Amino acid sequence: MPSQQNIDLTPFNTLALPGKAARYQKITAPAQLTAGDLAEGKRFILGGGSNLVLIGDFDGLVLHIAIPGKRLLKEDSEAFYIEAGAGENWHDFVQWTLQQGWPGLENLSLIPGTVGAAPIQNIGAYGLEVGDCLHSVSAWDFKNQAFFSVDRNHCRFAYRDSLFKQEGWHLNGQIAISSVIFRLPKAWTATIRYADVTQELAAQQIASPSPQDVADAIISVRQRKLPNPAAIPNCGSFFHNPVVLPEQAALLKAAHPSLAQYSQPDGRVKLAAGWLIEQAGWKGKNLGPVGMYEKQALVLVNRGGATGSDVKRTMAAVQADVLAKFGVALTPEPIFL
Ligand code: EPU
Repeated sequence: MPSQQNIDLTPFNTLALPGKAARYQKITAPAQLTAGDLAEGKRFILGGGSNLVLIGDFDGLVLHIAIPGKRLLKEDSEAFYIEAGAGENWHDFVQWTLQQGWPGLENLSLIPGTVGAAPIQNIGAYGLEVGDCLHSVSAWDFKNQAFFSVDRNHCRFAYRDSLFKQEGWHLNGQIAISSVIFRLPKAWTATIRYADVTQELAAQQIASPSPQDVADAIISVRQRKLPNPAAIPNCGSFFHNPVVLPEQAALLKAAHPSLAQYSQPDGRVKLAAGWLIEQAGWKGKNLGPVGMYEKQALVLVNRGGATGSDVKRTMAAVQADVLAKFGVALTPEPIFL
C-alpha cells in the first residue's frame, strides 16, 4: 500500500493540535512493516496519539500502527497468556479480557491509547503498571530489518519508563511494536489501596469487589476527574510526578504539610505534581487557548484552536511558576513531534 502525502494529523492526536505529515501510512499487519521503503528517512510511529504534542508539520513518514487481533495464546496452571495486536484500543482490550474471565488489567481501564503504546511509557494507574502484567513485546527493527522479541525482565520497566524509551528507539522511530503478550495470573486479588478507588467501592457498598467491580469503580473515578479527549482535547497527565531526594521532600513537607508524598523503593520520594500545580495557582487557569484542567491540575487541556506553540507556552509558564514557588522541576510526560 503506498503512503499518502500531506495528511492532516489533527484527528490523530488527542490534544487536537494541527500539523501535517509529509507522508502517512496505515499499518494493518506486521508483514507490512518489512517493506524496504519504510526504512528510509525520518519516521514517527503513531499509536492512539494520546501521549503526543504535535509542534507543527512533520517532514517525514508517519506510520500509523493499526494492527488488530487478540487471542488466548496459551494457559497453564498458573496463568493465562493473551496476545494482542499493537493497534488494538487499550480500553476495549482490557474490557474484553475481563469479559473472557481473565482478570488482572482492570486498574488500567479507560486509559486512552493502544496496546502497542502501553509498554513504551509503562502506563500505570491506581497501583498497577502494565509492566506488572506483561510477558513479552514483539517489534520490527527498521535498522536491522528484523522482528525481535523482548521478555518482561529485559524491558527495564520503571515509572512511566522502559527500554523502548531509554534507548531512544521510540523517539527516533527505530522500532515499531507489532504485538504484546500479557501474562495474567489465575490467582487474583483486587488492587484497591488507592483512596479514590476504596471510596468509590465503599460508596457503592461493595465489600468484596469482582474484577469488573474494580474496573467500573476506576472508570467512575476517571470519568469524574479526567476530561474525555473527545470533548476537551488533552493527553492525560501532562507532567511526571517528580521524584526527589528525601532531604528535599522533608523540607517541602515541613513547609507544606498537605503536599502528598509517596516513598519509593529506592528511598527517594514522589511528589504529587497536581498539588504543586494547583498551589502555584494553575488549576483551571488558561494562558491563551491552553490551560490546566479545573478538576485535575495535572492535565493540560486545549480549550479550542490551540497549536503546539500554545502548548509549549503554557507548559513553560507552569514549569516556571512551580520551580519558583517550590524549587521543583516538572518534566513533561508526552512526546513532542
Ligand atoms: N492533587 C491536587 N490537585 C489536583 C490534582 C491532584 O492537590 O488538581 C493531589 C492530591 O493530593 C491527590 C494527589 O495529587 O491526592 C494525586 O492525584 P491523583 O490521584 O489524581 O493522581 P496523579 O498523581 O495526579 C497519577 C498518574 C495518572 C493516574 C493516577 C491514578 C502520573 C503522571 N499520573 O496521577 O496517570 O491515572 O495517578 O493512579 O503518574 C497519566 O499518566 O496520563 C495518568 C492519567
